[in-house]
Amino acid sequence: MLNIVVCVSGGGTNLQAIIDGIQNGAITNTRIQAVISNNPGAYALERAKAHGVEGVCISPKQYPDREAFNEAFLERLNRYRPDLIVLAGFLVVLPKAMTQQYKNRIINIHPSLIPSFCGTGYYGLKVHEGALARGVKVTGATVHFVDEGTDTGPIILQHPVMVEPGDTPKSLQQRVMEQAEWKILPQAIDLIANGKVAVEDGKAVLL
Ligand code: GRF
Repeated sequence: MLNIVVCVSGGGTNLQAIIDGIQNGAITNTRIQAVISNNPGAYALERAKAHGVEGVCISPKQYPDREAFNEAFLERLNRYRPDLIVLAGFLVVLPKAMTQQYKNRIINIHPSLIPSFCGTGYYGLKVHEGALARGVKVTGATVHFVDEGTDTGPIILQHPVMVEPGDTPKSLQQRVMEQAEWKILPQAIDLIANGKVAVEDGKAVLL
């Protein structure tokens, strides 16, 4: 059984895709230990509660400095002894100690085809604004392992999404979530839960 902790900051539609995936069998051999948010108002916490999953808020605002937050966040996370940490719309820079302790055991969903439109400053709607500003015809989403960098870890799965005439950042974000994010994040978790992903020479390979 793969015990996972899901870290969220907002609406939690990716968390919902994981909850639904476990319920409908798209995700096997997996249990959500807890949901941790940095944002007390995150609707994702409501989604966790509705499904009987422990939801916790650990916000940098509750601590005198970033160091104290990092320590409290990692201490709480460690209490669940997760096999995998899933960043699902999580907008907090992870403590270096965490990415080192959980090397190749943290995954993130990013709403573009990495290495396009990723890295510092590219999150949420800004990703889709960048794609539309560049005029790309195809975008998509990526699930990757998290390392010390921003959106730089080994890529596990990607899925393309067509940009359509008249798209706005909002309409594109919605299509990328529906057609890509909500499919490949559950798929990646199921692959990991069944031992079907390895990292070789810094690249993720599907076994
Ligand atoms: C999504 O666009 C996701 O790709 C990004 O955060 C946004 C909100 O995700 N990481 P969610 O609805 O909170 O899962």
